[in-house]
Amino acid sequence: CGIVGYVGSQSALDVVIAGLQRLEYRGYDSAGVAVQAADSQGQWSLATDKRAGKLVNLEKSLAENPLPGGTTGIGHTRWATHGGPTDANAHPHLDDHRRVAVVHNGIIENFAQLRAELAERGHELRSETDTEVVAHLIGEAFQGDLAEAMRIVCRQLDGAFTLVAVHADAPGVVVGARRNSPLVVGRGDGENFLASDVAAFIAHTREAVELGQDQVVELRADSVTVTDFDGVPAEVREYHVDWDASAAEKGGYDYFMLKEIAEQPKAVADTLLGRIGTDGRLTLDEVRIPDSVLREIDKVVIVACGTAFHAGMIAKYAIEHWTRIPCEVEVASEFRYRDPILNDHTLVIAISQSGETMDTLMALRHAREQGARVLAICNTNGSTIPRESDAVLYTHAGPEVAVASTKAFLTQLVACYLVALYLGQVRGTKWGDEIFTIIRELGDAPKQVEQVLGTMEPVRELARSLADARSVLFLGRHVGFPVALEGALKLKELAYMHAEGFAAGELKHGPIALIEEGLPVVVVVPSPRGRSILHDKIVSNIQEIRARGARTIVIAEEGDEAVVPYADHLIRIPATPTLLQPLVATVPLQVFACELATAKGHEVDQPRNLAKSVTVE
Ligand code: G6P
Repeated sequence: CGIVGYVGSQSALDVVIAGLQRLEYRGYDSAGVAVQAADSQGQWSLATDKRAGKLVNLEKSLAENPLPGGTTGIGHTRWATHGGPTDANAHPHLDDHRRVAVVHNGIIENFAQLRAELAERGHELRSETDTEVVAHLIGEAFQGDLAEAMRIVCRQLDGAFTLVAVHADAPGVVVGARRNSPLVVGRGDGENFLASDVAAFIAHTREAVELGQDQVVELRADSVTVTDFDGVPAEVREYHVDWDASAAEKGGYDYFMLKEIAEQPKAVADTLLGRIGTDGRLTLDEVRIPDSVLREIDKVVIVACGTAFHAGMIAKYAIEHWTRIPCEVEVASEFRYRDPILNDHTLVIAISQSGETMDTLMALRHAREQGARVLAICNTNGSTIPRESDAVLYTHAGPEVAVASTKAFLTQLVACYLVALYLGQVRGTKWGDEIFTIIRELGDAPKQVEQVLGTMEPVRELARSLADARSVLFLGRHVGFPVALEGALKLKELAYMHAEGFAAGELKHGPIALIEEGLPVVVVVPSPRGRSILHDKIVSNIQEIRARGARTIVIAEEGDEAVVPYADHLIRIPATPTLLQPLVATVPLQVFACELATAKGHEVDQPRNLAKSVTVE
């Protein structure tokens, strides 16, 4: 969910709505606002509005029934967990007397018990959410100091949450609390901001304050006070956000996704910047795990979710091949529940664009409890996952707004390659020609991605022609297999189509039964150079499916003539070593899914039921 709070001298409603527009990617099932307003007698009350559906529903409602103006307010855009996306379940939630308004991100695990106790004490609960209990509890605890009331309530809550509240009897005050879920303060001049992501206030200030675990912040126009849940003043870390408001805007593109696809050459270049020396040696100063520890690592385990998990699958091929250290990859949500074998010789790599995905966070906490070292690969400075890791390698994709990940994925791949090469370097792996070629080719990746982007018109045309297809299959071998999975995921996310990715060799063991006349099958073909057996095998696979009626869409490198006779559609990508091929092979699949979804009339940036950053388990 997205949260915004504001106190200052501007119209709180305007600031909050603009902030919510920037955060809508975090959830868009419903949205709401609350502002403090004074009547002609100077009596304060809370004016609120909330609506199911996208933010525009709320904006329409506010245009029809404007709220009285005020300079202190909060807002929320929701991804439903407890209670469906209805007006009543939308945030903010209020107490019985409508004096407290609360917005929330996360899950309050003991809410059923708290709810029963509140009902027993005579409170009337109007929604099905876990959040509403907090509004009632703050109402009970409030004695004039909202921050103190918040602390009292937080001490009673179990689970992960970000809470932001205003009280009609505390004018000019916004209070926030944070456990696990993200919350950042933006410091302005005579105004201050609170949000789940800096994107919400970047148009106003680039000075941010990171809130730690179990902290409460009180915001006034001219002060920011942070304590722990017991009221003990807390040290905070201030930082400067190094991207500006334009980075979080569409800049002439119809969708963020299109803009982000186009930004990939720069994102890849920025992620490589300063990390590979002219002598081919890597400098990853951020990786603050001593070389002596890295030398003793006997297993690497990668945990991640969604698209980041696919980056992890590709990393496994690179790590094992270049370093000979055994590497496992697992979806973070499964990891800790199977009692994985970890110890202080295990390096766990947690990959996350947002740095806030709860499944990944819980996996890394479990890993650290078992003594493993955790290295995060993350795109969001100061987010929870890097903060709780032993070290972090940041991807420099810039803010990614579209829910379906594109540029973050490519930069995750770059970061994974860098980590793999770095591990090899530290451990003294013999630096043969192959590695030097890889390092040189990595440097060429931005140019190659650019080249692919320049040849996408036929892919878009093909996508439009497939808008009525019932299903699309994706096949690959080696690193082409995770690329196939990613291509299928993109299509599911954006076009709501049945799409599956398979290891091409596994097809004959079952999925080949799915092939029927005209079924589009995308095949990612590895380079014919180097591991040519792999190439020959996949050429056979293409023939197998074509013989059974499939319409073959073949992604193959320039100069690969062997595939030509079997390709109904041929998409060319630049020649590159197979291990690096995902950097170029994924791009047409992103464009394909985006165009197909658009052809079907779907909203590309905000696919149904999804959220970009899922901060619940
Ligand atoms: C959500 C998004 C996916 C994303 C996954 C992991 O499910 O919809 O696009 O890949 O989270 O996100 P992370 O921020 O951890 O990379």
